[in-house]
Amino acid sequence: MGNLNFEMTNIETDKLAESGNDVNPIKTIIKASPYMQSYERLLLENKAWAAEKVADDPDFFNRLANLQRPDFLWIGCSDSRVPANEITGTQPGEIFVHRNVANLVVNTDVNLLSVVDYAVNHLNVKHIIVCGHYGCGGVQAAMTKRDYKPVLNMWLRNIKDVIRLHEDELNAIENMEQRVDRLVELNVIEQVKNLARKSSIQRAWRASGYPHLHGWVYGLKDGLINTVFEMPAGSPVDPIYELDDL
Ligand code: CO
Repeated sequence: MGNLNFEMTNIETDKLAESGNDVNPIKTIIKASPYMQSYERLLLENKAWAAEKVADDPDFFNRLANLQRPDFLWIGCSDSRVPANEITGTQPGEIFVHRNVANLVVNTDVNLLSVVDYAVNHLNVKHIIVCGHYGCGGVQAAMTKRDYKPVLNMWLRNIKDVIRLHEDELNAIENMEQRVDRLVELNVIEQVKNLARKSSIQRAWRASGYPHLHGWVYGLKDGLINTVFEMPAGSPVDPIYELDDL
């Protein structure tokens, strides 16, 4: 599967010959092959992308292969419409990424905790961004009483806890779309606070003055990020989570 050996019809081959002036021949093959399997297109697009990167900057991959030093950790939703690098105009190497359903920071999630630990203590990121998005399906699901069965019920339970904390504010919003969007914002704020409640974050704040924590919400309808919450390093946290002997 690692090469370009797939069959093209005569028509497709003709199209390929006609468009011989295209800068990237792989792009031409993709355009000329509508019957290709969907996953094959990904592999071809990958070859085209790698070729373009090297054409722009011959040292691009050598540089990245030897060093990763991102300033940012991104904790985002798994939603396919919110790709961290694309919506922030950043390149490979600039953002360390963790994504899960509804961008949650759960303090028993070994996957997330490992990512945060590596980002903070080894990569020394300066900023952690929790980025939700308006219209989030996970957040909407948590607002219903539908049984999504284990494991999703377990995961959505974390958002139901956010709803319970902010019940009065949410119930006062009559428009359901607006209520979901406000919950998306409140959820991001709670997840940023969850980060600040972690002893490893508090320890890093004392030792290095980093990372600053940010809560953002991305708009699917306009592609714009709304900044909703900030916790600069050293911000006060709820006293019960503030440990003395860090
Ligand atoms: Co989502």
